[in-house]
Amino acid sequence: VEGIDMAIAGEDADEMWLRHSVMADRTKHQTFCVNVDATGEDAVSLRLRSEIVQWLGASLVSDPSRATVILRTLTDHDIAGRGLTFDGAAANEGWHIHIPTSGQPVIIESPSTRGLLYGFYAWLEGTPNAAEEKTVDVTSCPDQPIRMLDQWDQANGSVERGYAGESIFFGRWGSNVHSEFVSFPQRGEYDVFRGDVDRLVAYTRYCASIGLNAICLNNVNVRGYAIRFIQDPWLTRIAQIAHIFESFGLKVFLSVNFAAPRILSGLSTVDPCDPAVQQWWNEMVDHIYERIPGFGGFVVKADSEGEPGPYQYGRTHTDGANMFAHALAPHGGIVIWRAFVYNSHTDWRDRTAQADRARAAWENFHDLDGQFASNAILQVKFGPIDFQTSEPLNPLFFAMKHTNVIMEFEITAEYLGHQIDLNFPLPQWEHMASWPVEEGADAARALSRHALNPRLTGFAAVANVGMDWSWTGNPLAQANFFGYGLFCWNNHVPVSRVSLQWAQLTFPDCDDEHQHTIAHMLDQSNEIYAQYTAPLGVGFMVNRDGHYGPGPDDYEFSRWGTYHFADRDGIGVDRTQKTGTGYAGLYPEDQARQFEDPATTPDDVLLFFHHLPYSWQMKDGRTLLQRIYDDHFDGAARVDDVIRDWKSCASQIDERRREEVSRRLTAQQADAREWRDEICTFLYRFSGIADEHGRKISD
Ligand code: GCU
Repeated sequence: VEGIDMAIAGEDADEMWLRHSVMADRTKHQTFCVNVDATGEDAVSLRLRSEIVQWLGASLVSDPSRATVILRTLTDHDIAGRGLTFDGAAANEGWHIHIPTSGQPVIIESPSTRGLLYGFYAWLEGTPNAAEEKTVDVTSCPDQPIRMLDQWDQANGSVERGYAGESIFFGRWGSNVHSEFVSFPQRGEYDVFRGDVDRLVAYTRYCASIGLNAICLNNVNVRGYAIRFIQDPWLTRIAQIAHIFESFGLKVFLSVNFAAPRILSGLSTVDPCDPAVQQWWNEMVDHIYERIPGFGGFVVKADSEGEPGPYQYGRTHTDGANMFAHALAPHGGIVIWRAFVYNSHTDWRDRTAQADRARAAWENFHDLDGQFASNAILQVKFGPIDFQTSEPLNPLFFAMKHTNVIMEFEITAEYLGHQIDLNFPLPQWEHMASWPVEEGADAARALSRHALNPRLTGFAAVANVGMDWSWTGNPLAQANFFGYGLFCWNNHVPVSRVSLQWAQLTFPDCDDEHQHTIAHMLDQSNEIYAQYTAPLGVGFMVNRDGHYGPGPDDYEFSRWGTYHFADRDGIGVDRTQKTGTGYAGLYPEDQARQFEDPATTPDDVLLFFHHLPYSWQMKDGRTLLQRIYDDHFDGAARVDDVIRDWKSCASQIDERRREEVSRRLTAQQADAREWRDEICTFLYRFSGIADEHGRKISD
């Protein structure tokens, strides 16, 4: 988009929701005491001390009676004796905060040093809100044990589906202005690391400050030098990065290329059942753990979109995953195996079940339930297609009853407006996490119920940061990163509470009214975007060249299995059991029945499940086509309101942020109008049916 240029290597970086001046001000009259006798010092407790002293410049004493804030770890005995309750699979990472009204010290405590660090940030960020001046006594534990970020950063410095400049980890040749990693040869042919330690420390602080505990450093499509990250000397660099992350309590993972034994050592096969291949991985893993004893493990995308995998050797995905699991198990490592596997060479003429991409994850994995090793995790995208504005829950979440599963989200706004259009996706994520799966459990809760190891389930999301000064291209897209962390911690956290807390921390100079205005802009943004883009769950009407802006027919005759089937009579994909691909039948009976009938299918996935005539009567009495026209006009008009809201905050917002956001909102306005006009015209040309309200639709 013209006028939106990202910095390739920013010298400065925004402070996002942790403004140093604000945080230092909050702590300048405090005296901290950190007591970790119950668990012992480790890298995280040392980091906690350095956060207090070096980052905040506050004072630290060893005598608790002199402290105004006491941070301490607890033994089981302490917890039982005090009647505290730390619940769930991640109880160990929870915290208890006690803020007395006056006179007494604030107490932050946890069974672990990691929990202490989370409690410390939660207190700093005002959770619970101390400003209310009443006693606070709260215990909080994360809902999901694994709270992970997947960087799609590549060794050449680019970020796949990244909209915020270059990678913060790897630098494009010539773009690296930092030289902290002095032990490595001067930037030569193979030094792909950016080495911007300050930025990495800041990034890790943001991750820990929202409760995240795992990160995969490189893209799932493992190409070029990234294939060698598991070897020296690249591994030395990975170890340096891991060291930073571990000190903030995050485990580091790497994506690996399934064909690495062939590419790196010339093995003639990478068959996961071949002992020589297994041996290769065993030795490789042993070596990695020598360098990085706290290494998390591997993320693997196999047999998908051209990546190598076990199918090429007539093997199953469990053969592949378990080979890695076996190599990692002696070190306490895990393998995260992605379920995003589908045939990307679909014939668009084929309208049978086998060509329905929505079925793919289920078809590839459902009968492997119970066969994955106990240290393997299957990572499943929340919907069956690919992070569209509106999708039903991936039916694999119902099928896996004896498997560790991670639910995957995408913070980077690939299909949600590229961090140009405002889109705070928390409402959609919560909708997915809350999807009923069985008696007494929604999708988020069911994960740990059916895990082989309840500690090995959680959420993972594709990160949205880069070297842009604001980290996220659009400064308001910082909220998406922030929101993801809070959502992992509390899967049902009220959306408007997150947006307001973010606005308060990020815009401390705004008054209360305008902080609410910004939060309100975020709260509605996901719905607005869904209104003016592909209608009612039909998906993929996006421009094929990068996935920004409309391209109603761009994927219609392609090999990617993403079709809307619009014709002169109607639009949508028939996924019913009676006349369609049968996909609706992959859900439990009550939901299958609901989706089988368009009259009972929720509007937001109506065209995902049904091919309907334009004259179809919606629940509110409008015709299907009129509803689509209305949504598009309404969505585009609401962008004008958002711009008005932002302008109303203008005088209270610093110039850089004000201008960056304004430029993007102007681009969004143009995008929304383009979407509105293209989708309306596209369907008008097919149907010949005019808008009831006489608004202008070009022919
Ligand atoms: C999407 C995305 C790709 C990515 C893939 C994945 O299809 O467009 O860039 O590689 O998802 O999740 O593996």
